[in-house]
Amino acid sequence: MNKPIYILGIESSCDDTAAAVIFNSKILSNVVASQKIHEEYGGVVPELASRAHQQNIVPVVASALKKACVSKEQLSAVAYTRGPGLMGALLVGSSFAKSLAMGLDLPLIEVNHMQAHILAHFIEDDSQTKPDFPFLALTISGGHTQIVKVTDYFNMEIIGQTIDDAVGEAFDKSAKILGFPYPGGPLIDKYAQLGNPNAFSFTKPKVGDLDFSFSGLKTAILYFVQNNTKTNPNFIKENIADICASIQFTIVDYLMDKLKNAVKETGIKEVAIGGGVSANSGIRKALKKAETDFGWKTHIPNFDYCTDNAAMIAIVGELKYKQNDFSDINVASKARMTF
Ligand code: KG4
Ligand code: ZN
Repeated sequence: MNKPIYILGIESSCDDTAAAVIFNSKILSNVVASQKIHEEYGGVVPELASRAHQQNIVPVVASALKKACVSKEQLSAVAYTRGPGLMGALLVGSSFAKSLAMGLDLPLIEVNHMQAHILAHFIEDDSQTKPDFPFLALTISGGHTQIVKVTDYFNMEIIGQTIDDAVGEAFDKSAKILGFPYPGGPLIDKYAQLGNPNAFSFTKPKVGDLDFSFSGLKTAILYFVQNNTKTNPNFIKENIADICASIQFTIVDYLMDKLKNAVKETGIKEVAIGGGVSANSGIRKALKKAETDFGWKTHIPNFDYCTDNAAMIAIVGELKYKQNDFSDINVASKARMTF
């Protein structure tokens, strides 16, 4: 009989220290320690992130193994995020993964974080559906905004991307203007659900067909808030739900415009979203609606696999393990990485 395959996934690319164990494409444990320290600085401070990863990594991995009821000795391989991300943060996860693999004499598997956001759809989970190839993936996070044509697990082509800020940054920077703590994206979403999306209008940025730009939107929101608070100092407080709903509506509508262009250009109507911003209620609703409006087949990930997590690293580890795609101990972490 074949030995059962248990893969430990480790993620440390930004400000979440995470570990997960997968077996037969099912997640046995998914532990995330989010670093609160960055809140007071209004953004992720790389040096503090590295230090927090160092403090968190041992308890997080121990907890993932314990929750999965899997011992270190039962593991088949260790998968870790090689990049893209903050170099200091990546190094903590990769050094830990390499030492563990070496100590236990296990194969090591390197994972591309952005590929993992997409391949999280292949986790066996009743609350999500698996896309058929080929499909389009809209990866929306704090660091990336891309439209990717996926023809196979590891055959991915970026067909559109942001030329400046990522969509998560647009949410977080708008939130900062409104006085929300970092990361403010989820708070904009929370208030947006109570407001009128047509209360205020913001011009959608204009760049190429499938590319994105968010820096102009951030400036437009800043001027809008500054002008209105000049005449009414309580403007934000009195209109917070409508402001958030209008910002969210503009961003979601813009993402959907680009997706519609991508579907038109590729003829592919199978569409998935991934990354932290795919937790947003507006984009989730818009995507569902596209099934009836345009006949798309859409795939929305379980909330647990949207923001940074190690379950997505573990599923890629399992897929690569089955293809005997292992990584050398000397492979270096990479802050910037494409597919
Ligand atoms: O994928 P992720 O956890 O980390 C990166 O790889 O960047 O994404 C984090 C981003 C942050 O910008 C956060 O504000 C945003 O995802 N985010 C949201 C929501 N939940 C997380 N943005 C809008 N609405 C949400 N519900
Ligand atoms: Zn991410």
